[in-house]
Amino acid sequence: MANQAGEVLVAVTGGIAAYKVCQLVSRMAQADIGVSVMMTRAAREFVGPATFAALSGRPVASESFDPHWPLGPHIELTRGIDLMVVAPASADFLGKAAHGLADDLVSTAYLARTCPILVAPAMNHQMWSQAAVQRNVARLRDDGVLFAEPAEGWQACREQGSGRMAEPDELLTMIQRLLSASR
Ligand SMILES: Cc1cc2nc3c(=O)[nH]c(=O)nc-3n(C[C@H](O)[C@H](O)[C@H](O)COP(=O)(O)O)c2cc1C
Repeated sequence: MANQAGEVLVAVTGGIAAYKVCQLVSRMAQADIGVSVMMTRAAREFVGPATFAALSGRPVASESFDPHWPLGPHIELTRGIDLMVVAPASADFLGKAAHGLADDLVSTAYLARTCPILVAPAMNHQMWSQAAVQRNVARLRDDGVLFAEPAEGWQACREQGSGRMAEPDELLTMIQRLLSASR
């Protein structure tokens, strides 16, 4: 049965903030949002797919070629969704998406989707302030991508700066607003 509040695909890329997305997925499920999760290979270094499978109640995709999804998870998991969320979004994902590259599952799903997309970047402040990264963000904004702005504060690199992923509650509020607007 379709979830009342909407269907969302959460794509997790390789950043330490992946641990916060476990809480986000749990809150989404509790808010009656249907949530499927896909992960990059790097993301699996930070959080295991079993955690997201249990929290979402659904299988987790992390390879482009997977017999569980004969049409490819980039197609099957982007059909019929109201929103795609990339959290945390790595510098690598931003670069690929800004340039239309599709050499892994998440970047391919980005191109395959037709719904709105919310991207929550997270990275070390030196990475976030790089001209190349900011150019990619500006290009993605021009392409219609919505951003959850990273915050300033303590980072896992043990320095203060800008690049902390938006908190799960803030992301949930943004997701709920976007879902309401789309109905
Ligand atoms: C401990 C550790 C933490 C990392 N944290 C981040 C991060 O927060 N943001 C980021 O963009 N890259 C981070 N990286 C680098 C990415 O994991 C790396 O660029 C990877 O290729 C990203 O792949 P993906 O975009 O396919 O997930 C980190 C790497 C390590 C080893």
